[in-house]
Amino acid sequence: MTQTATYTVEAFVEDVRAIFASTEDPHAQAQGAANHLKALLAVPGWLEEKLNIPGEGGYGRFELHLDEEYGLPGPGFWLMCSIQTDGQESPVHDHGVAWVIYGVYEGAIEQSKWRWFYKGEGVESTQIKQFGKFIQNDRTVAFFLPGEIHKTLNVAGGRSIVVRLESQKLDRITRYQYDPIDNSVKVMNR
Ligand SMILES: [Fe+2]
Repeated sequence: MTQTATYTVEAFVEDVRAIFASTEDPHAQAQGAANHLKALLAVPGWLEEKLNIPGEGGYGRFELHLDEEYGLPGPGFWLMCSIQTDGQESPVHDHGVAWVIYGVYEGAIEQSKWRWFYKGEGVESTQIKQFGKFIQNDRTVAFFLPGEIHKTLNVAGGRSIVVRLESQKLDRITRYQYDPIDNSVKVMNR
């Protein structure tokens, strides 16, 4: 069970495995894992210790756990860390049939949500548009269910450290990125 004072990344992984073992419902999985990730983010220092993160810089992507037994839609849930430069942004993208939880360990990112708008919704033709956004500060989590479209932007004014849990490692999944300028869609590579 989650105990904030002594919670570890290893215990978190076990909690996520238990969730996958107990339910096949994507929303229940994501919500349950997000609650545990929030507890993990509240523990100071665990990530620096795990990855030897320097006080400044250290940019890049780092693996924390790849699970070959559990995941959605198939085995291979992945816990990783992304250390982002100021202003770093993703394309507008989805996660295919996987869900993803974003946890901010340090800094702040803007999460914008996007969807297709159709005739009758104030557009002349079908187009991909933003319909909402929020700032995700440190020690907070946000999850995106299969099919949801979003974009992230580091708004910390410096480094942001983001811990991400993918229900199946996204390079095993077909997913898409969207260009809001010409409304084109293409398979996303990583
Ligand atoms: Fe994403």
